[in-house]
Amino acid sequence: MHRVLPLKVHYYGTPVVLVSSTNPDGTSNLAPMSSAWWLGQNALLGLASGSRTTQNVLRTGEAVLNLASSDLVDHVDRLALLTGSPELSPHKRDTGYRYEPRKFEAAGLTPTPSDLVAPPRVLECPIQLECRVSGHFPIDNGSAHAQAIHVEVLRAHVADAVRLPGTTYVDPQAWDPLIMKFCDFFGGGAPLAPSRLAEGWQMPGRLEAAS
Ligand SMILES: Cc1cc2nc3c(=O)[nH]c(=O)nc-3n(C[C@H](O)[C@H](O)[C@H](O)COP(=O)(O)O)c2cc1C
Repeated sequence: MHRVLPLKVHYYGTPVVLVSSTNPDGTSNLAPMSSAWWLGQNALLGLASGSRTTQNVLRTGEAVLNLASSDLVDHVDRLALLTGSPELSPHKRDTGYRYEPRKFEAAGLTPTPSDLVAPPRVLECPIQLECRVSGHFPIDNGSAHAQAIHVEVLRAHVADAVRLPGTTYVDPQAWDPLIMKFCDFFGGGAPLAPSRLAEGWQMPGRLEAAS
């Protein structure tokens, strides 16, 4: 039986992305987000209008999307109640956020230079995507004051540990994304079954279908 529920949160389980961006004074900001989806070499990011990251990304037209693996959960969690904005909204202040201009240090993560964009990559993240903004549109209603930001992936950096040996593919079994489900973190989920899509696309590294 299904019930009609007034669900407050629709975070059903998405990978955590650490977005690095450039502040107006040239320093770097870093923020976790998970409202991201992917299509070809594009990503669409749902980011609150008031966050420093949103302002930085729209002003500079650049970002690096650093995909966090599950073993980075403590580092990500250290960023959870920090903002790079010196001015906090009443909502953020009430939620317990505080201003932190040095997010990399606060998280214990290492900035490393990007090739094509100004924001640094996060060395510890196995997948780092240098991106350029292509467009954006506002989402302003009762439940969100946000921007949907379309970015294009210019260059992907992939750690050997998550690469399918001898190929240019990420190994789906080696890559263990940190997942935000509702408001909790998940990782290390056991592989269950191959997808038909992966078969249709002739993707290497598929699981064996159960007989
Ligand atoms: C795991 C996780 C996922 C998050 N996902 C999002 C998201 O998808 N969109 C968003 O606007 N904020 C998200 N947040 C909240 C931002 O990290 C928060 O607004 C933060 O202040 C942004 O930092 P900034 O103000 O320095 O940009 C998430 C936070 C955590 C810890």
